[in-house]
Amino acid sequence: MSDLSALETTDPDIEALIRKEEQRQLHSIRLIASENYASSAVMQATGTVLTNKYSEGYAGKRYYEGQDYVDQVESLAIERAKTLFGAEHANVQPYSGSPANQAVYLALCKPGDSIMGMSLPFGGHLTHGWKVNFSGIQYKSVQYELHPETHLIDLDQVREMALEHRPRLIWTGASAYPRTWDFEAFASIAAEVDAVLVADIAHFAGLVVGGVHPHPFPHASIVTTTTHKTLRGPRGGMILSKEEFARDLDRAIFPGLQGGPHNHTTAAIAVALKEASTEDFKDYARRIVANARALADALLEKGFSLVTGGTDNHLILFDATAKGLSGKQGSSAMHLAGLEANSNAIPFDPRKPFDPSGIRLGSASVTSRGMNEEHMRQVAEWIEQSFQAHEDPARLEAIRQQVSEFCSGFPCPGIPT
Ligand SMILES: Cc1ncc(COP(=O)(O)O)c(C=O)c1O
Repeated sequence: MSDLSALETTDPDIEALIRKEEQRQLHSIRLIASENYASSAVMQATGTVLTNKYSEGYAGKRYYEGQDYVDQVESLAIERAKTLFGAEHANVQPYSGSPANQAVYLALCKPGDSIMGMSLPFGGHLTHGWKVNFSGIQYKSVQYELHPETHLIDLDQVREMALEHRPRLIWTGASAYPRTWDFEAFASIAAEVDAVLVADIAHFAGLVVGGVHPHPFPHASIVTTTTHKTLRGPRGGMILSKEEFARDLDRAIFPGLQGGPHNHTTAAIAVALKEASTEDFKDYARRIVANARALADALLEKGFSLVTGGTDNHLILFDATAKGLSGKQGSSAMHLAGLEANSNAIPFDPRKPFDPSGIRLGSASVTSRGMNEEHMRQVAEWIEQSFQAHEDPARLEAIRQQVSEFCSGFPCPGIPT
């Protein structure tokens, strides 16, 4: 258990809720593809005096005094990010992934410019031009979809749309695409129409640094990422880029969008980047993909219908309706059985966004706990059982107890036992 003794005295209500969440994270199988367990070292860095310090600006050019150590923390994070991703420039100040993406627009586009990204119901992120997001409101957004039969990216469609609309920037990367990205092919399309190629690797950044997903550099000019998904850091964001975009991106983050950076998060990002530069992390990334493949294979054997028929990364998307439940019914049954996932649209989904047809799974958190390919067969078994028991609360509770007992054998990074 984490040391929450001061909280217990000052605010027992919040302390009790955090304790319950800790227990929940210990005793459930967390399959939400955007989540993970940050290490104890990362957690410690986030809970430090760095949260007390204001430091608007950049190292050596701050607006307040007292930056002796904060400058060093941020410079270390920047150097580590550049080395790890082979980037000419890094900005580690974005509060999260969405502000990082917002800064890219501010640096490159004027309101009304054409931009292009993968459509949200096909797996893209809100900030890639979806209609209710600032990116779809302020810019003329053109959204590519997936091939109607294979549900893979259709590069011919992307090229045709790019030639027709000549976007200022083209986004690659997504929130629910189970396959790898061909950055080189996108770069050649971007070059044809004089667009800037941006890769949002929020989901699979850890796989990129681990060498098990194609690298966006040198094909993309700008790379954005969150730091808390497969990269296993604190909640945060980063922008990596070629030198020619450095000044505009830095100015877009500050003073364009944000005020003072969250220095405690910057320190924790630096720690996560150090952890991600080890051989152990390469092995971790390899195991994430192996576990996702094993889970996908086990689900296929049980007759689940997987979008694209499998996975190349940490993520699986399946059609719950092929097993007789909506995405929400399926994820609710799984939740009651101690298996945490989210309902998700599948390509060409006929259902509404709040209760779509699919369920998205990810293997980063279970891999962080040391579960292996054999354990993924058991996880698939429980997923199938929870579907079968969706109208039987007693059976779901019985599965939940088995899951909880199973979880006791796998310590969670960042949660002291
Ligand atoms: C591809 C992608 N980009 C950006 C983001 C935004 O990150 P955040 O929620 O930290 O703003 C997400 C979040 O899930 C994402 O999947």
